[in-house]
Amino acid sequence: MKDQLLKLRDEALAAIAGVSDAGAIQEMRVRYLGKKSELSRVLGGLGKLPTVEERRAMGALGNEIKQAITQALDAREAELAAAELEARLAAERIDVTLPGAPVRRGHLHILYQVIHRIEEIFIAMGYEVAESRQVETDWYNFEALNIPKGHPARDAQDSLFISDEVLLRTHTSNTQIRYMLEVAKGRTPVKIICPGRVFRRDFEDATHAMMFHQVEGLVIDKGITLASLKGALTEMARGLFGPDVGIRLRPSYFPFTEPSAEMDISCIFCGGKGCRTCKGSGWIEIGGSGMVHPNVLRAGGYDPEEVSGWAFGYGPERVAMLMYGIEDIRHFVTGDMRFLRQF
Ligand code: DAH
Repeated sequence: MKDQLLKLRDEALAAIAGVSDAGAIQEMRVRYLGKKSELSRVLGGLGKLPTVEERRAMGALGNEIKQAITQALDAREAELAAAELEARLAAERIDVTLPGAPVRRGHLHILYQVIHRIEEIFIAMGYEVAESRQVETDWYNFEALNIPKGHPARDAQDSLFISDEVLLRTHTSNTQIRYMLEVAKGRTPVKIICPGRVFRRDFEDATHAMMFHQVEGLVIDKGITLASLKGALTEMARGLFGPDVGIRLRPSYFPFTEPSAEMDISCIFCGGKGCRTCKGSGWIEIGGSGMVHPNVLRAGGYDPEEVSGWAFGYGPERVAMLMYGIEDIRHFVTGDMRFLRQF
């Protein structure tokens, strides 16, 4: 029996040493140590040995062999697992020195870059950025701004009505009223800059769009005059176009301001000498402005005997077009990546 056992041990150890696949180890455990293994079968014959000493000796040898085989299996299994890991690490190694696959990074739309620039200029002067709704009632868009129903001033803003009382706002001036009534509620000072989308029933061409943007400004406090309007606008123009640009206020008419003024900037192309872009005048019109009409202050819950204010509104598309030499307003919305990627 001893020879049989030793032979079994040598066979098993040789087989284990030769195995090269971690999956086969489990099979070997069954084959060499399982209930139906040769070893179990031989040891099953222990009881038939003639003496107690022999049984004890063979039993002990059997256990030693089982242990030796178990150890060999465990060791080989660990070796194979380590080799496998090694191989995987080698195969799946990432070369961090290779250049990466480029990820194309997007950027803010050019118009919003300009709008943010405008916001920054005013934030630096202590203004708050305020926004309000694009779908608006007739009252906020017109009536509260001193444009009653049937007033001829409505003709200047071809509107997209949704119902008799609801329309897509034609200008950001609705934000003046919304801010006064909903946010400021009579407090002073009010200093806001209001960017946003506006809508007109217009035929589209290089300078007209159905949807475009405006930036509205509003200041209300005791003793506010046109001088501070001119100061704020000058600061804005310089922040956008550089330190040499000037502002001109030209008498005009808007229902919501009195007096009213068109605001012009000195021509950024010829420096005011007169060129084709400014049609020889040296000035470029960019928007409207004026002292807030007493009726508008009243609609917003302010007493025009106590406070005064100024407001302005203009299109950032026009500013962006001047700044970057963009010749057609429709470029902003057509989504042509060749256009958008330039900026
Ligand atoms: N709301 C005017 C428009 O869309 C622009 C404007 C003019 C706004 C004068 C103002 C202002 O706040 O004071 O044509």
